[in-house]
Amino acid sequence: MMTASKPSAASSSDAVDFGLRTPITDLFGIQFPLVAGGLQFLATADYAAACARAGIIGFLTSNHFDDHHALRTEIQRAQSLCGSLPFGVNIAMLPKASDLNKALGIARVVAEEGVRFVETTGRSPEPLLPILRDAGIKVLHKVPGLKFALKAQDIGVDAVTIVGWECGGHPGPAAVGTMVNAGLARERLDIPYLLGGGFGNGAQILAALATGASGVVMGTRFLASTEIPAHPDYKASLVSATENDTTISLWSVRNNARTLVNETTRAVAALEAADPQGGIDPLMPHIAGAVLKQTYQDGDTSRGMVYAGQALGFVRQSVPVAQTVSQLKEEFSQARQRLSSLFAPVGGP
Ligand SMILES: Cc1cc2nc3c(=O)[nH]c(=O)nc-3n(C[C@H](O)[C@H](O)[C@H](O)COP(=O)(O)O)c2cc1C
Repeated sequence: MMTASKPSAASSSDAVDFGLRTPITDLFGIQFPLVAGGLQFLATADYAAACARAGIIGFLTSNHFDDHHALRTEIQRAQSLCGSLPFGVNIAMLPKASDLNKALGIARVVAEEGVRFVETTGRSPEPLLPILRDAGIKVLHKVPGLKFALKAQDIGVDAVTIVGWECGGHPGPAAVGTMVNAGLARERLDIPYLLGGGFGNGAQILAALATGASGVVMGTRFLASTEIPAHPDYKASLVSATENDTTISLWSVRNNARTLVNETTRAVAALEAADPQGGIDPLMPHIAGAVLKQTYQDGDTSRGMVYAGQALGFVRQSVPVAQTVSQLKEEFSQARQRLSSLFAPVGGP
């Protein structure tokens, strides 16, 4: 159920150039330390190109392509749209039981097509690394907890993203929030890391940098962007939703998912409560990707696993990615000034 309407968005501004550098801006060659993570069915070449033009990096999703030819075509489209600007390919390996050979096949295509950056998630990317490394591809691995980030560091990924419980998509089993991840990651990680889960405002990006992160990943904040290939009613539904309108389900199959509350999540919750050992088969008619695809096509968010996180609270209009990024930079800048104003000059009264 949707709750009260949200306050109107702060005005956006033209891009602000901070001269800001972090290991993540250096790794990807971007202006602002922000990554638009993969969005299954939604993160297309057009979306990745919109991110690139906005001075950040986007990862187009790959595992829904039925054949390698279609994936190659999409990558080539991204290359042509982005020119020299960076983009990457997301290789999601969820659920854990998913076919590793499929991911290996995607990795080979990505390598052959000269892609420079890959975002992996779902399980250890270790089997993919020889292929990606040989092709000189930089690997950003996304995990739902610090202990997995440490494993990723051990196998030699270039950077890691830790998403907290607030995130849209799959927050993992640990139920640890982003602020706790933020506080602990600096103590334990040596490689560059991003924080994710619940980010939607530029002040939060500054806060993440202050804790020691090299940047932030966002998914939910961009879902209503004009470049997202989904029905306007879907985007309107996200705009009217708030941070209170998501829930976690699929506990019983150890594939926790944060989605909009709707008929599907209510049906899934009832099935999981009735038979926690029931496995995935009784759930499939509700959670199948085909149901979600239909939602994106017809805009009816009352059914389907409509992935979205608590950052829905920040989604207040359907605008181009560049406008959102400008707004985030403006908020970042204001937060920086606010922070400076809190410190009295040394030697002052
Ligand atoms: C609709 C949706 C689809 C997603 N699909 C993928 C995916 O295919 N691969 C992936 O690595 N992450 C996926 N994610 C996770 C995002 O890339 C990102 O890590 C996450 O949204 C960050 O948290 P936030 O939602 O609080 O911004 C998805 C998230 C959403 C909301």
